[in-house]
Amino acid sequence: MKLSQRVSNLKGSVTLALAASAKEMAASGRDVINMAVGEPDFDAPRRAREAGIAAINSGAVKYTPAAGLNSLRQAVADHLRETRGVAYGVENVVICHSAKHALSHTLLALVDPGDEVLLLDPAWSSYHAQVELVGGVAVHVPPKQDGTCAPDLEAIRAAVTERTGGLMFNSPSNPSGYVWSRSEIEELAAICEEHDLWMISDEIYGRLVFDDAEHVSPTSISEAMKERTILVDGASKVFAMTGYRMGYLAANADVARTVGDLQSQISGCPNYISQRAFEACLIEEPEEVKDMIATFDRRRRVVIEGLDRMGLKGPQPKGAFYAFPDLHHRFDERGSSGFCADLLEAEALATVPGTAFSAPRHIRLSYALSEDRLVEALDRLERFLSDRP
Ligand SMILES: Cc1ncc(COP(=O)(O)O)c(C=O)c1O
Repeated sequence: MKLSQRVSNLKGSVTLALAASAKEMAASGRDVINMAVGEPDFDAPRRAREAGIAAINSGAVKYTPAAGLNSLRQAVADHLRETRGVAYGVENVVICHSAKHALSHTLLALVDPGDEVLLLDPAWSSYHAQVELVGGVAVHVPPKQDGTCAPDLEAIRAAVTERTGGLMFNSPSNPSGYVWSRSEIEELAAICEEHDLWMISDEIYGRLVFDDAEHVSPTSISEAMKERTILVDGASKVFAMTGYRMGYLAANADVARTVGDLQSQISGCPNYISQRAFEACLIEEPEEVKDMIATFDRRRRVVIEGLDRMGLKGPQPKGAFYAFPDLHHRFDERGSSGFCADLLEAEALATVPGTAFSAPRHIRLSYALSEDRLVEALDRLERFLSDRP
């Protein structure tokens, strides 16, 4: 059967495929440590589970408005006022089936065929695929070349052309754990203002910031910036609710209405049960959240120490739950993919090659694992490096 031009370059998610092969390997009896997953290893909060069960038992599991339950949209608006200090109303919020869905529906609403969209490398792999699927041209902008993965604002400015529609922004960053500073965001906002660009701000790791890092939403920089930004967030990371598939966007009322209309035609309303579970967590933060964040921070320190011990360099992970060491000096001609494949084979340690994020010198390590397993994982990496020619 002839497939559409649109999918001719499409590849499935590398990280999901790697996580799946690690699971297969484990099923065959090997003691696999999976550092490839971008998924918190905690259960969903009790409050979410109870609200989900109550929703089922109410019997009222029906369609909701396509843009989501009004009460949940209001809860998101209140949450954004509290966490980002910005004022949104129900008309600005759309509840989606996941942050992934919020991102892809937004791109569908904003991008015309041939429009250029800037991806600030190292960038989460789905951005590229999603931009191409809607007919856009993904333009990758490399970070500073000092190994920190810090943004190169001059390079971003230089990448803007007449065809540039906007850019995808993600802080804290998957894969690098980099957290943009307020002044870097102000500079980026100035570029958007100057060239009339929209910005999709993926803030899914916004609560996971450590040390002196501060999560700054571009929407809070100015009223004008809020107007041109589409803020995306969801329940997957901070509430460990990946399987509930809950995300949202907040944007100016025109964009929000359009995405709501798109959703009404493409996927219909998001899952009712998950909406109720998510709402319960937004109305009152689950008691587990602070503990989860503190646990991630402890694990982060374990990883930083381990990588330092091995003398590995890379960006200081200050957010999300990833480390991104530069290992290019240990790669053979197969690059980061070959390295990660060998590491999985030799030590049953699953990691993600940096090529998945347009950062071929790095590999990504997720520290969504218990401290014991992390220590074991780092030992395996160290042994692998010392055995490798
Ligand atoms: C940067 C980033 N954005 C969005 C998502 C997707 O989240 P969701 O589970 O809501 O689709 C992920 C998940 O890995 C992510 O890393």
